[in-house]
Amino acid sequence: MNAASAPGKLILVGEHAVVYRRPAIAVPLNDLRAVVEATELPSGSGLIINALDLGRRFALPDAPDDPLTALANNLLVHLAAAPPDMELTITSTIPIAGGMGSGAAVATALVRALSQFLGKPLPGDDVAALVYRSEQRLHGTPSGIDNTVIAYNQPIWFVRNAAPPNHIEPLHIAARLTLLIGDTGVRSATRLPVGDLRRRYDTDPAHYEALFDAVGTLASDARAALAAGDLLALGPVLSANHDVLQQLGVSSPALDALVSAARGAGALGAKLSGAGWGGVMLALVTPEQVGPVRDALLAAGATQVLQTTVAPTTSPR
Ligand code: PMV
Repeated sequence: MNAASAPGKLILVGEHAVVYRRPAIAVPLNDLRAVVEATELPSGSGLIINALDLGRRFALPDAPDDPLTALANNLLVHLAAAPPDMELTITSTIPIAGGMGSGAAVATALVRALSQFLGKPLPGDDVAALVYRSEQRLHGTPSGIDNTVIAYNQPIWFVRNAAPPNHIEPLHIAARLTLLIGDTGVRSATRLPVGDLRRRYDTDPAHYEALFDAVGTLASDARAALAAGDLLALGPVLSANHDVLQQLGVSSPALDALVSAARGAGALGAKLSGAGWGGVMLALVTPEQVGPVRDALLAAGATQVLQTTVAPTTSPR
């Protein structure tokens, strides 16, 4: 048996504006992972995909429109390999359509497990490119930040370029971050708020360009605060990002209620994370604030509250 895994991710600053080429910051979420196990099957069995959490098990040619089938097919073409006799079993602790990169993580683990099984492990850039194509199928114009942070498995500063390659830098974080993740329990596909914002953008580009510029400035401010290990400066930047996301029309009453509750309970900062309209928000807290902020999030309707930390990184070159 061969197994591969990939982490979930959180966008700290800059979702949506990143699609319009403003910088964004994302971190891997190693507490939540997608795992794909590759098991050899008797000759003639073909390639079987077993998505355990979704209760779906199918042979490769049987579901040609399924994104996982398309991904596996693209990978086999890329490796110039015939479908092997094997079963790919997928499990994941990352909530689906929750803003934590579950689709990109499953895709990354699948590409790694299948390529390793075939004895042709791929470099990270190839994995990220294949996963990007699969994300395109799911939501049209992905910025590429999800597949990149998951493939790199480290905090990144990301700017989408007009043509590949994108600008990707490992990020210097000088202090440990403690984050609480509040889940609205509402599942919303990424392409819905992304598409809605695109339609509104097309009616008034100048208005939205100004909001995206504001997010870009906040991303730079966050980067400076992270490099200085200044969490008291970082918190208000995250909160200000949420206020712009509200103006971009991608928040929701449930997300706003959780963000207000976290701020009211003393969190250093709070914002929605990911595509919005549902999914999760994050709160930056001190270790002492974990209890009161968690209680406030649950009282405000969070269906679950996860705690994670982002470890300091070494100073870049
Ligand atoms: O909700 P997620 O994890 O799919 O994050 C989407 C991030 C966006 O900036 C809204 C879209 C993108 O492609 O970057």
